[in-house]
Amino acid sequence: MTLASISFILIIFQFLLEIDAKVSSIIVFGDSSVDSGNNNYIPTILRSNFRPYGRDFDGGRATGRFSNGRVPTDFISEAFGLKKNVPAYLDPSYTIQDFVTGVCFASAGTGYDNLTSQVLNVMPLWREVEYFKEYQSRLREYLGDEKASEILSEALYIISIGTNDFLENYYLLPYRPSQFSIEDYQNYLAGIARNFIKQIYELKARKISLTGLPPMGCLPLERTTNFIFGGNCIDRYNQVAISFNQKLQALVESLNNELTGLQLVLSSPYAGLYDIIQNPHSYGFEYSATACCGTGRFEMGYLCDEYNPFTCPDANKYVFWDSFHPTEKTNGILANYAVRSSLAVFQ
Ligand SMILES: *[C@@H]1O[C@H](CO)[C@@H](O)[C@H](O)[C@H]1NC(C)=O
Repeated sequence: MTLASISFILIIFQFLLEIDAKVSSIIVFGDSSVDSGNNNYIPTILRSNFRPYGRDFDGGRATGRFSNGRVPTDFISEAFGLKKNVPAYLDPSYTIQDFVTGVCFASAGTGYDNLTSQVLNVMPLWREVEYFKEYQSRLREYLGDEKASEILSEALYIISIGTNDFLENYYLLPYRPSQFSIEDYQNYLAGIARNFIKQIYELKARKISLTGLPPMGCLPLERTTNFIFGGNCIDRYNQVAISFNQKLQALVESLNNELTGLQLVLSSPYAGLYDIIQNPHSYGFEYSATACCGTGRFEMGYLCDEYNPFTCPDANKYVFWDSFHPTEKTNGILANYAVRSSLAVFQ
């Protein structure tokens, strides 16, 4: 064999290896954008384990996902050839066996800031990390050290959090604004994000996707508070999301330089979701300013219940399911976009 043909074979071999180098598992941290049911098992009023939530999910089950169906991480897991849905860590009907290829530690209503999680008595981000540590020891016990370590370092970690720090905390409660300008608060949160990523890196995470903020001034609930301006998006909030995402991008670059072997990407839903909201018809939607559930202007959680007579019959016509969360259809579009862009390096 000539040297050229040997190197050709090597290149092909490497190519095949790369095709095979998909992630072993999807491990999720964050808030209601990705919570698959953990809040059902903690003493909070922020829940969605009742109809009409989940009415388009498998078997019409209300799992605690804040949507009519699946959340983006479910679609991402499926796109990576793993489970169709990412199981919630606190759900006692699952065993460690169910968590080998994916697990969700997210808690609706939480934020980077500890104070945010206190507003609705949900899991602070540090508690999600505590559960992750507990999960690691259970996984090691179940699979042995070597296999567990391999899964942990080959998993894709998805972090989706931050909207509540601004909308449920900074812009709602007096405490943080009395301490921080909005710019300082953004830096404070980015500092927590940095520590959090370092912490899970120490715990073997290498492939990480940090999710940016959505155009949060366009959530139907925020438009409702903006009635003086005709229910338009609150531009100020969108600008904060854009500048926070820029800080996260800088954080991603700096951590990739700092931590050996880290593959950290920013997945920003901002541009994609903004385009859907501005041009709903090009995506097959009819409504983007109001949500499907109830009047579509303020209902979420317990206010979005099955006795609300105004809930729409077809959620696929709406970008938003309740006043704070996208429909399954929107989640699928956003997940698919992430899989083809920021997450492509992990395939
Ligand atoms: C949040 O609370 C935890 C537990 O009390 C603490 O360890 C952590 O330092 C706090 N984070 C910040 C940024 O204050």
